[in-house]
Amino acid sequence: MVREFTNIRQASIAAVEHMIDLAGKTVMKRDLCTIVLAGGSTPQLTYELLGAPANAEQMPWQQSHFFWGDERWLDSTHPDSNFALARKTFLAKVHIPPQNVHPIPTGLTDPQAGAERYEKHLRDFFHANSLVGMHSGGEVMAVPSFDLVLLGMGTDGHIASLFPGSNLLEEKRRWVAAVPEGAGSPPCARITLTLPVLNQAKNILFLISGSRKREILDTILRRPEKAEKLYPAARIKPAGNLIWLVAE
Ligand code: 6PG
Repeated sequence: MVREFTNIRQASIAAVEHMIDLAGKTVMKRDLCTIVLAGGSTPQLTYELLGAPANAEQMPWQQSHFFWGDERWLDSTHPDSNFALARKTFLAKVHIPPQNVHPIPTGLTDPQAGAERYEKHLRDFFHANSLVGMHSGGEVMAVPSFDLVLLGMGTDGHIASLFPGSNLLEEKRRWVAAVPEGAGSPPCARITLTLPVLNQAKNILFLISGSRKREILDTILRRPEKAEKLYPAARIKPAGNLIWLVAE
């Protein structure tokens, strides 16, 4: 589904409404909701709105757990940190138990160690929750199923820290991977969830703005085979629902 908006504010309001609605329904069913946050600049207004009292009071913070789709290999206080963005815009303003916030570790010896640590953390967390089996080459492989994954998209069609031409686009086993510095902006090393995990989500919500990203979406919708060769975003085919919120 594609929903179009005249500006990023309207799209961000819709994003917050989706998050609140989904979290409420999910917690009613399972007393738990797992949400993966996007990084970059587009979701900033969404997060600020989520932290606004009128919205925050509707979120089941006690039962909601927040994770990240990717993180830059920077200190968690660095202005370009995806965790820092979420903390500044809403996490520091709401009554969420600290144990419900699951940042990607960036203080270890190197990104590979960070990726391995996060994967272990996810495995421990999902051990008691909804592991979803996924057949990979005939072998059932356990993959977590997040209730909601928020994604942005770069102007090259990247998602999380999965960039065009990356070998990680073919990753089938690891849930979390390290990305060497160079790609993306800022061009720092990164840690990212992989496609098997992203595509196991029950709901994926894209939030994009601008004509270039709209062109990429049009290619994804109209010429999916071509798009898959060019844009990682075209590889997002979730087990669950996929909604694009598109601002002009
Ligand atoms: C990151 C993000 C990344 C982002 C896109 C779009 O860490 O950079 O997770 O995937 O969503 O780069 O970024 P903008 O929203 O800033 O255009």
